[in-house]
Amino acid sequence: MILERPNVVNLKELQAELGGLDKRPDIKELEKLIKMYQLYEAGQKEISTKLENLDSEFQVNYDYNPIHHMESRMKRMQSLLRKAEGKGDELTVESIQRNIFDIAGIRVVTNYIDDIYKIEKMLTNQTDVTLLRRKDYIKHPKESGYRSLHIVVKVPVFQSKGPIDVPVEIQIRTVGMDMWASLEHKLRYKTNSDSNLVDKYGDQLKGYSDELEQIERGMQDIHKNLV
Ligand code: GTP
Ligand code: MG
Repeated sequence: MILERPNVVNLKELQAELGGLDKRPDIKELEKLIKMYQLYEAGQKEISTKLENLDSEFQVNYDYNPIHHMESRMKRMQSLLRKAEGKGDELTVESIQRNIFDIAGIRVVTNYIDDIYKIEKMLTNQTDVTLLRRKDYIKHPKESGYRSLHIVVKVPVFQSKGPIDVPVEIQIRTVGMDMWASLEHKLRYKTNSDSNLVDKYGDQLKGYSDELEQIERGMQDIHKNLV
């Protein structure tokens, strides 16, 4: 199942949306940002299609689907500019492209841990896909207990004047890791980091992250012995 959240932007809506920012890019820069969005969204579609194709090939050849589901999202323009502002970067397309890699994002949710690395390998082995960055929070979980594999790849998008490489961030995680991250995200962000609640549940969630890892590895072993 693919859940798409396109964030199509136009200049008028954008100017209204950016009202809350301290600094705002000028109109020329905003126009360039809108073009950049179209390009990045095209890159996201290229990668989504590659992932879908890999998954359906598995279904045909091995009667097995490594991907449980995928979600894709474009970072909202306001969040993007907030992030650039927060990092002290210039609010220009050039600076944003140089410093921010999660404008186009895809989340791939798998059944088992091994599927995560299989998908990474199959995707990055493709001749037109290049790995730019990689953070393995499964081998090295975050302090919170957060686990996932984060990669940024670049893929060419063929525009009218030729190809342009676009970076796409891919978070690959199991159903269990995804469930954990949603709840932990809710604790940290939706409660406005209410320190009582974070103290109360933070350690508990961290413990669950370790337990989930063991359960997932055990279930993966059972699954392997069944095929
Ligand atoms: P960003 O600027 O936030 O993208 O930082 P970064 O480039 O260092 O990325 P990082 O590898 O920390 O991953 C950022 C994304 O991963 C976040 O937007 C979340 O979706 C997810 N993430 C990272 N850490 C946590 C965590 O502790 N809990 C949860 N629930 N999600 C996390
Ligand atoms: Mg991010």
